[in-house]
Order: sequence, then structure tokens, then C-alpha cells
Amino acid sequence: DYMKYKDPKQPLGCRIKDLMKRMTLAEKIGQMVQIERSVATPDVMKQYFIGSVLSGGGSVPAPKASAEAWINMVNEIQKGSLSSRLGIPMIYGIDAVHGHNNVYNATIFPHNVGLGVTRQKIGDATALEVRATGIPYAFAPCIAVCRDPRWGRCYESYSEDPKIVQAMTEIIPGLQGDIPAKSRKGVPFVGGKQKVAACAKHFVGDGGTTLGIDENNTVINSKGLFSIHMPAYYNSINKGVATVMVSYSSWNGEKMHANRDLVTGFLKDKLKFKGFVISDWQGIDRITSPPHANYSYSVEAGVGAGIDMIMVPYAFTEFIDALTNQVKNNIIPMSRIDDAVKRILRIKFIMGLFENPLADLSLVNQLGSQEHRELAREAVRKSLVLLKNGKSANKPLLPLPKKTAKILVAGSHADNLGYQCGGWTITWQGLQGNDLTIGTTIVNAVHNTVDPTTEVVYSENPDAEFVKSQKFSYAIVVVGEPPYAEMYGDSFNLSIPEPGPSTIKNPYLETIDALVAAWLPGTEGQGVADLLFGDYGFTGKLARTWFKTVDQLPMNVGDPHYDPLFPFGFGLTTKATKN
Ligand code: GLC
Repeated sequence: DYMKYKDPKQPLGCRIKDLMKRMTLAEKIGQMVQIERSVATPDVMKQYFIGSVLSGGGSVPAPKASAEAWINMVNEIQKGSLSSRLGIPMIYGIDAVHGHNNVYNATIFPHNVGLGVTRQKIGDATALEVRATGIPYAFAPCIAVCRDPRWGRCYESYSEDPKIVQAMTEIIPGLQGDIPAKSRKGVPFVGGKQKVAACAKHFVGDGGTTLGIDENNTVINSKGLFSIHMPAYYNSINKGVATVMVSYSSWNGEKMHANRDLVTGFLKDKLKFKGFVISDWQGIDRITSPPHANYSYSVEAGVGAGIDMIMVPYAFTEFIDALTNQVKNNIIPMSRIDDAVKRILRIKFIMGLFENPLADLSLVNQLGSQEHRELAREAVRKSLVLLKNGKSANKPLLPLPKKTAKILVAGSHADNLGYQCGGWTITWQGLQGNDLTIGTTIVNAVHNTVDPTTEVVYSENPDAEFVKSQKFSYAIVVVGEPPYAEMYGDSFNLSIPEPGPSTIKNPYLETIDALVAAWLPGTEGQGVADLLFGDYGFTGKLARTWFKTVDQLPMNVGDPHYDPLFPFGFGLTTKATKN
């Protein structure tokens, strides 16, 4: 019998319809299930008709696994799906949120908080590196509008200003490819084997929670929600974003994972979004508190709200049984299941997954390529913000001369690739040290940049005597936070942990002569030295308000009471040195 759905010459609608009518309830529900790779054996994929697999933060086939090892892992899981009755390919997703950050040797771009080169080029490069490992789906971009920097995920947010976040959705055509001009609004687009399906997250209001508490309650009226947190979803949909991930947070006390009005009523019906909506990790479990306290309610509320794919991610039989039961007892209508499956199949057909379910080795050299690292270096240069330059405007300190007697490089973050990459790097929470992946630390960058006759001395936390005795021409001190992700980064005091502050203070003049915000630059620390020594000028502007004290928060540009140390949009500039 002619399998119309397998024929790429058939119109999309016909393929979906033909396949849907062949599917059993179990095969339909299976498509709505996303499981973690650690439970995704080929047998499980085949037996439960699982539609999707993910790598949780740091979930890798092996430490420092090569692109080829990733491809073999993804292909093995895929073969399980392809051996099922209807052979529907699974879609593998991963958090590539600042480059392909789970993967050893991937290019790690600045986190979103550090604005950079046009995000579209970063999207292009990220798509190539994700595909280099055989993966066709990235849970990015995070288009949170972080309104309180006490939020542990504030660094995942491009800005406190929705207009900047809207502009940064240009990463989506980078990841997915440019949507064809005449496309109908809301219809997703993914342009082939060098592009990936993207994911606008987390819908909606994730960056607006009370006190910045992760996964908490965003208390704001409708006007506020739609003018601050919603705008970038319009841009994402206009750019053909394939998927939208729901936020753990609540809006005025209602869990987003149970919010039918916003997920179905607004996103699907009003904005005509035709891709699929995916839950966050155990997102439906967390509809109740404590989480999982009433799983059948979680399933009914989450699927009923309009979530199409559930990131379970482990107890998939529990989810399948609960949902099957609720469909059989008419608690959840078949029409809801059909809507979800249709959306999931639409993405898989549109992105050519039926035609190309298995990855080949053709892109492995894209992973961590020099070209991508140069792009990341450029992004670092454009992300740095110069907040202070010399004791007075007419005596700027930066750029530093490359030729000088002796330079001290100090601080916890000067020789620590893990610290400069931050969370979501190799592991979920990030790492310290220089062994985690391949990149350039800031002290190495300084070595690479100065004149060969200039002596560079590194000391992580020098004492005052040492500094005085050495007669340094300059000192570059790099301090910051240790890496973290999500709720582990929530902080009520936002102070840099020791020995950071004391390293800045003890051996140096009371006030430092220059101050650069470098954010979380990623693997290409060379971009920092490029600016410090004048190969390029500082151009970056603050995309976030630099507050004076925590008790001013939340305080954002446009607020009536606005008394920052450095205002939104602030940034000193320097010229490149003619050398
Ligand atoms: C995490 C994050 C989400 C991520 C997902 C999968 O908890 O909230 O941003 O995409 O789980 O790792």
C-alpha cells in the first residue's frame, strides 16, 4: 500500500493527514513524549513510539565525546524509531544556548547578557555545530526579559529592554534559516540539513518573577505582560520559529504550564502559531506544589492547556498511561491529541526529518572551527562595556600599550576557562578550571597580545607586598562569580564572592583606574585582550541597568525612580590604536 506520507513530493497537509489516519492512539501519544537520552534505548523508542529525545544540561555520550561519537549515539536512537511500525523519525533536542555548549571543543559564544555581533551569524554558526553532532533541534533562544538581576538566569536574557530582546530574535533565522518571503504568518520554517529547529523560551514572563526568584510568580497586569514579556514572541513567530517552550513561572498566581488562555487562546489561536509547544523539564510535574503531587492533574492541566510535547523526561510510562487513560475516559478530547501530533509531525516534515533522519559526518569539522571562534571573538569584542577609563576623561588609561616593562594579571577569573564560560557549559552548572574544553583564557590572551619584550606576571590573588615590590606598569584584575545555572544562581545580595573584591582592593589604589564589564565571554577570551590593548575600540553599551545597591531592585530603564550607578545604554568608547 502506497505510504503517501513518505512521499516528499506530496503536499505537507496530505502527508500529515495520511500519516495521522494510520496512527493508533499509542503511536499518537508516543509522539508527544520527549525523554532524556539516558533512558532512550532503541527498544524503548520503537516500543513506545517516542517522538523526541533530549540531552539535559551536561548529558553527553562520553566525557569529551567527539562529534562522531555524538552522531553515532543520535543515529542509534533514531534507528530504534525508524524500526517502528510507521517509521516516524524522532527529533533530538539540546540546550545550545551560547554555542553548542554541552559539547567538548564547541565554540562557546558570550552568554546572552553580553550583546554581540549580529546574532544571525551566531545562529548560523551554532546551527552548523549542533548539526555537526547529528542534532537537529536547539532549545534556544531564551527570549526572557530579565527585570531583576537577582534572577539566577539573568545572564540568559539579552536585556531588560523588550526592544533589544526583539532585535535579538534575529538569531532564529540564523538557527533555522531565513523564512521564505511569502510564508503565511505563524507557519514554522527550518531550512534543511545545516539548520536546526529553534525554540523561543520560556513562554511567558519567565524574567519577571518576584525578587527574581527562579520559577516563581510574575505579578504584573496584562498591559505589563504584553508590553514587556510578550513582544519578542511576535518577532519569533514572524520569523517562523519552530517551537515554543513554556515557562515554569506563574502569571499572577497561575502556572504557565496550566495556562490555556495564553498557550492555546493567545499563542495558538490569536498569534496563529503552527509549530509545537514543548513543556520545560518536568514542567507539568511542577504545576502542583509539591511537584508531582497529583500527576494525573498535571497531565490533564498541561496537555489541556495546549502543550504538545512533554519533556517528561524519565518516567515516560507514567505519562503515557495517564494520558491514555484520560483520552479513553474523555477527560482529554481526541481533538487535543490530534492538534499536538499534527504540530509535531508538521515540524518533522517541514525540516526534512523523514527524508534525512540519520546524520552523516559531513559537518564534523564545523565543531569549534577557527571561523566560528573568530566570530565568537568578534562577539566578545562587541559585548564588552567600558564603564570607567582613567582618573579623568582627558587621561584615559585604556587602551594599554603593548610594549611596557611588566604587567600583572591577577584575579580568580584571569586563568579560568570554566569561569569565563559560566553555566550551561559542558555541564548544566558549568565548571571551573581550564580542562573542561578548548579555548583561550584572558591571561593567555594577554600573553598573545603584548610585545614580546613585555613581561607578563600572573598571580591569582597577590598580596600587597608582592605587588609593591614588583614595580608593575599595569595590573589587569579579572574577577566575577563562579558558574551556575537556574535557581542555583538566584542571589539576594549580588555580591562578588571573595577573594574577588579583596583582590581588587588590597594591592591597588583605593579606586581602580578603569572598569570593564566582560560578562560571560565564553571560550574566546582573546576578544578581551583585543580591546584592552587597542587592536579594536570599545563600542559596547549596557543592555542592563547597573544598579547602585540591591535594595534599589527591581529598577529598570524607564522606571520613575531611576538612580543607577551606570544607566542602561551607558558605555565609554575608545579608538583602535594605529600600530
Ligand atoms: C531546564 C531549563 C530549560 C532547558 C530544559 C532542558 O530546566 O529550564 O531552559 O531547556 O530544562 O535542559
